[in-house]
Amino acid sequence: MGKAKRRKQEQTMDLFPADAESGREAGSYEMLPSVWHGDDPPLLERMLDFYPRKPPKKILDATVNKGRFWERSSRPVTGLDIDPQHEPDVVGDCTAMPFPNGSFDVVVYDPPHIPNQGRDKIKDFNTRFGLGEKSSAVNGYNFTHLYPPFMTEAYRVLTPEGVLFCKITDYIHNHRYQWAHIEVVKAAVAVGFCPCDCIIKVRKGPIIDPRWNEAHHARRHHCYWLVFRKSKKCE
Ligand SMILES: C[S@@+](CC[C@H](N)C(=O)[O-])C[C@H]1O[C@@H](n2cnc3c(N)ncnc32)[C@H](O)[C@@H]1O
Repeated sequence: MGKAKRRKQEQTMDLFPADAESGREAGSYEMLPSVWHGDDPPLLERMLDFYPRKPPKKILDATVNKGRFWERSSRPVTGLDIDPQHEPDVVGDCTAMPFPNGSFDVVVYDPPHIPNQGRDKIKDFNTRFGLGEKSSAVNGYNFTHLYPPFMTEAYRVLTPEGVLFCKITDYIHNHRYQWAHIEVVKAAVAVGFCPCDCIIKVRKGPIIDPRWNEAHHARRHHCYWLVFRKSKKCE
């Protein structure tokens, strides 16, 4: 695309953010907005059309749970989960995956993000989102230590130029802001991934701990979809 055409497209995005979000054709490609107000499945569908260099033949959801990401999808997805109660395609550990090298074109990762919760009996967060897992003091009461072994495995099972999508939520825990998305980027870069993009997904409601009377951090109304490529370059 020429400089003039690109600038015109950028101006269109500045002036008409709604058009940018709708993905309306403003240039020679369908845009993907960097802030997403909808659900995960339609966003994933757009991401799968947007980032892979060719239509993915094999997709791994490494933390599939009940497979809510794929309910209306016809994508070729293999679901992995460590917990057999979710009845994934494969029961296994995403930090030691039971797949040969280069098995998938895309890996999707939505790890448990808030450890040591579980007092909220009203919601079934524990089984739905894996929030029942515990993290010890040695691990800073967070799940950061799981990222490096997962990244090693994701890199191994991806084809060259394959892409990794990570849904990551920062949160407040143990009286500290937990910078999960930064830890994920660090772990990905350490194994050789090229960090390529970041989409902010706006949540319908913030995560609220029923024990909080007064909070001194902004309420988390968003999470991130981070995009990595097994390549030296993003584009
Ligand atoms: C946040 S949930 C995923 C939710 C899913 N994306 C959905 O929308 O239905 C995290 C899942 O990761 C699984 N999990 C936790 N540790 C794992 C591991 N080491 N290997 C594979 N799955 C794991 C949990 O059992 C849980 O089902």
